Amino acid sequence: MPDSTPAASHSAQLWNTTAYAANGRFVATLATAVTDLLNPQPGEQILDLGCGDGALTAQLAASGAILRGVDVSPAMVSAARARSLQVDQASISDLPYYQQFDAVFSNAALHWIPLAAQPSALASIHRALRPGGRFVAEMGGQGNIAAIRTALSAVLAPHGLDSEALAASFFPSPAHYRSLLETTGFTVHSINLIPRPTPLPGGSDGMSLWLETFRNGVLDRVPDAHRAEALSQTIALLKPVLQDPLTGDWTADYVRLRFHAIRS
Ligand code: BEZ
Repeated sequence: MPDSTPAASHSAQLWNTTAYAANGRFVATLATAVTDLLNPQPGEQILDLGCGDGALTAQLAASGAILRGVDVSPAMVSAARARSLQVDQASISDLPYYQQFDAVFSNAALHWIPLAAQPSALASIHRALRPGGRFVAEMGGQGNIAAIRTALSAVLAPHGLDSEALAASFFPSPAHYRSLLETTGFTVHSINLIPRPTPLPGGSDGMSLWLETFRNGVLDRVPDAHRAEALSQTIALLKPVLQDPLTGDWTADYVRLRFHAIRS
């Protein structure tokens, strides 16, 4: 189902739950390292921040922990509720919770919040946790999808479009995010940058499907008469670096930032 609500009200990204299930399922299936770091325990109250369609929330709930999901996208909230999960619709910067969670968990959501909005988002997360509670998350980190971003920038610039500004994403270094966490009142146990080249589903259409699923908010700003050409040009630039010449399969140049912090 298409969603007319931007990802975190900072970019024009639209979420389509069908496309996400087909082209973005790896977001949940590649999350083992961060779910291991969370180490959910039976009976714990855990908030899954930016829970999307709830695939990972449901996996976490199987541990016996009591999960609540929250997402800003109404389409994603509906999809997650269809899994019989407790899910609220709210912005990460304005969470309706006060000291009620043992842990806040997040996978692949925090990079949708631009730098200017990070302090209010982190303060909102800090408020939601009980003192001593943990914040365990993974997001895109410094250098994430660098080739894809560079290709989009090069192709969209002649149309007068700044794809980086339109995407409104934030891919920080460990030092930068540590400082944001500490300024908010978290003690950082670990924070690491992990390159994770990610095979895309869809065979030779993999990059086109990825761009249509995760960068539609940028591509939709190209005038209709030039959108298809801009997509083909982006894919042509990426072909020598991200496509396997033998199989035609694509690999996206993901870099993860994974951390474990404690609310003081
Ligand atoms: C990420 O998980 O790093 C990501 C996903 C979609 C767009 C941009 C980044």
